[in-house]
Order: sequence, then C-alpha cells, then structure tokens
Amino acid sequence: MAKSPSSKEQPAADNDQGTAWSRQATRYDELFLDPFRPGVESPLLPALAALPNPETLTIADLGCGTGPLLPHLVGKFGRVIALDFAPAMIAKSRKRLGKRASQVEFLQRSMDELDDLAGTLDVAVAVNSIVMPDVRIIDRALSAIHAALKPGGRFFTVLPAMDAIQYHTMILHDHALDRGLEPEEAERHAVFHAEHHYYDFAFGRFGFLGLRQKFWQPWEATHRLSKAGFRDIELSKVLYPWDDNIAGFQDFTHLPQSWDWFVQARP
Ligand SMILES: C[S@@+](CC[C@H](N)C(=O)[O-])C[C@H]1O[C@@H](n2cnc3c(N)ncnc32)[C@H](O)[C@@H]1O
Repeated sequence: MAKSPSSKEQPAADNDQGTAWSRQATRYDELFLDPFRPGVESPLLPALAALPNPETLTIADLGCGTGPLLPHLVGKFGRVIALDFAPAMIAKSRKRLGKRASQVEFLQRSMDELDDLAGTLDVAVAVNSIVMPDVRIIDRALSAIHAALKPGGRFFTVLPAMDAIQYHTMILHDHALDRGLEPEEAERHAVFHAEHHYYDFAFGRFGFLGLRQKFWQPWEATHRLSKAGFRDIELSKVLYPWDDNIAGFQDFTHLPQSWDWFVQARP
C-alpha cells in the first residue's frame, strides 16, 4: 500500500482542491452534467430503492456537491448525512433542499476524515466524488469509508471512466478514417474532439478550471476497493445518452453508449 500523505502535506492538497471545487459551485450546473438527468441509465437509484426498510438506515452522501442525490434520500432514509469539503457546495445543497435541509446532517470536511462515524453507516454513496488527484488520499478515503460502514453495510459509488474517453477516441478516429482522412489527420481529429489536452491517460487524471480529478479504469476500481478491505465488488455501467455533451454524437447513435463506472461493494 502507498505511504499515507504526511499530516503536513495532505491538508494542503485537500484545501487546494476544496477551494477549487468551491469556486465552481456557482456555475456548477453549467459546467457539470446532472448524474440523474433524463436519459441517463444509472443503477444507483434502483440499488437504493431495493434496500429493505430504508427508514431504519443511516446513509451518507460523500462529496454531495450541489446535492442532486439528496432529494432522493430525505424523507426516505432514517438518517441522512451529506459531506463535502467545499463550503459553497454545501450551501448549494442546502438551498436545493430548502426547508428539508433541516433533515440532513451536513459535514464540511474531507471524506477521509470519518473517524467519528466509524461503524455507524448502513449505506455510503459517492457519486463522481472519489476524484482526488492524489491516490494516497483516495486510498485513505476508501479505508475511512470501509471503517465507517457497519458490518453488512453497502457502498455504492459512481467513478468517472477513463476507458470511456478512450472509447470516444476510438470511435472518433474510426469515423474519421471511414470518411477518408489520412491516419495522421484522423488521429489529430480524435485527439482534438476527445479533448486529450485535459487528460493524463497514464495516471488517470483530468485537469479543468483548476480542478484536478481522478478518472478510473475498471481494474483500478477493483484494485483500490480491495486494498481498502471491500469485498463482493461488482462493476456495472452508468450509461449516457448520445447527446450534444459528446462530440460527434450524431455519428455514433448506432454504437454502444458512453459510460461511467457504477461500483457496489460490501465492507
Ligand atoms: C463532480 S462533483 C460531484 C457532486 C455530486 N456528488 C454530484 O453527483 O453531482 C465532486 C464533489 O466532490 C467533492 N469532493 C471531492 N473530493 C472530496 C474530498 N476528498 N472530500 C470531500 N468532498 C470532496 C467536491 O467538492 C465536489 O462537490
């Protein structure tokens, strides 16, 4: 296992990204896609709906952001915790819920700081929020989530898929070749439209507007969750509609859809 960040360097990395995320809170809806928007086929809500007696359960939304998941939890689960290290994100979550915000316990902190919740969560959810660019912090967060879950608890996470960017690259490239472009030109076309300048494919990272985010390969999800002690790790896909959020989508509607990874596991 990688050495944990020292107490001196880790808050700096976290604070830095917390500030960067807070800065994007106002324009969040312009910049990021709603994971529950119409047309998205996500196994998350059905998985939550299948949990028996939710009114007896404690659930935590880790990295709640502007809170798109919270309306699905409040009034259904017995105790709802929403955690985010970016204060502006918590403020937006509160605003989204209005009066119902009083039914949620908001925690402004990093998701690797869950000692006080050890053994108390029935369900932990993290939607596109296990994205810390420093994998030591990811490993710490996964271990903290593992320790926060009760025996028999459930962990559900959606992880941004690096292989989906490679898939997009492949179909852009193929399409350009089919149109008769020379190989070099077709590669340039794919690199440009799949926005490779934002990505580090070797280490699985995406940099945008001062935010540096982890993007995941499926085998890395299995590896890191296993390393943190999770078992019964199952991966499936969140499928996205072919729409103008994906460059060239009109040419690809006959092909399998793009995805992020949905992972479920037990402590
Ligand atoms: C891409 S947004 C996703 C938000 C929300 N879950 C959603 O699906 O819309 C990532 C969120 O995770 C938060 N976040 C990232 N790393 C975190 C960490 N280490 N601890 C707490 N929150 C974190 C960010 O502040 C941001 O609000």
